Amino acid sequence: MISLKGKTAIITGGGRGLGKAVALLLAQEGVHIGITGRNEEQLKKTAEELKATGVKVAYAAFDVASEAAVKAGIDALVAELGTVDILVNNAGIGKLGTLEAMSSSDWEQVIQTNLFGVYYTAMAVYPYLKAKGEGDIVNVASTAGLKGGATMSAYAASKAAVISLSQSMMAEWRKQNIRVITLTPSTIASDMSIQGGLTDGNPEKVLQPEDFAEWVRDILKMNRRALIANGSIFSTNP
Ligand SMILES: NC(=O)c1ccc[n+]([C@@H]2O[C@H](COP(=O)([O-])OP(=O)(O)OC[C@H]3O[C@@H](n4cnc5c(N)ncnc54)[C@H](OP(=O)(O)O)[C@@H]3O)[C@@H](O)[C@H]2O)c1
Repeated sequence: MISLKGKTAIITGGGRGLGKAVALLLAQEGVHIGITGRNEEQLKKTAEELKATGVKVAYAAFDVASEAAVKAGIDALVAELGTVDILVNNAGIGKLGTLEAMSSSDWEQVIQTNLFGVYYTAMAVYPYLKAKGEGDIVNVASTAGLKGGATMSAYAASKAAVISLSQSMMAEWRKQNIRVITLTPSTIASDMSIQGGLTDGNPEKVLQPEDFAEWVRDILKMNRRALIANGSIFSTNP
């Protein structure tokens, strides 16, 4: 396995939940960290926690659903941190509801955030990785994207599209030594899954954000000749 020490990672949705866990664990590996989200107060708080590990930390508040805001936010983070090697494309929303109950604007918001957010962010980071001649992009989809379900229409459709987008990115960008990794986690205890009523988050049984973070860290630490292109993680016996 390779060392990640001295690399620089940008983690969207890094202020809380799965993204925060990844940010903390990568910082412990000596990775400089840029986190993003909409809630600046939350980002500031998490940035303070990250700074205690001794790495460089920056944050940028922007909505991933806005292409112009993503471009400006990513460029500002790279300018502050000096470079970027790793993108964890993690920000997303989990608006659930029956087809009948959900409005078309709810539907559009889910697609705009979960699909276009991943696309805009990858496209904003890509020129930096291309110029460097290598890098890593972790796109966080979901098992919901592998198979639709009741109340899941918009979320599952957005994540199915992320899987497809991410696999296409992988096919194009591996030729530039950019590893594009498509992750499809099952339910993990977080605001999204607990408030959405998907799990009680019981740490004895249910995947925790730290489990997700260890998985991402270990995938990134694979020798650069090795690319874990797709992966799922489940609770053993929730
Ligand atoms: N938890 C699960 O069971 C599970 C399972 C499979 C996949 N996932 C995926 O994992 C990712 C992280 O989920 P989580 O469980 O950590 O959710 P979470 O606790 O609700 O956190 C979501 C994160 O995304 C950010 N975010 C949401 N909308 C945004 C927007 N429009 N612009 C910028 N940032 C935005 C939030 O930051 P702000 O609030 O500051 O905007 C927050 O940091 C999501 O893509 C989710 O779909 C989660």
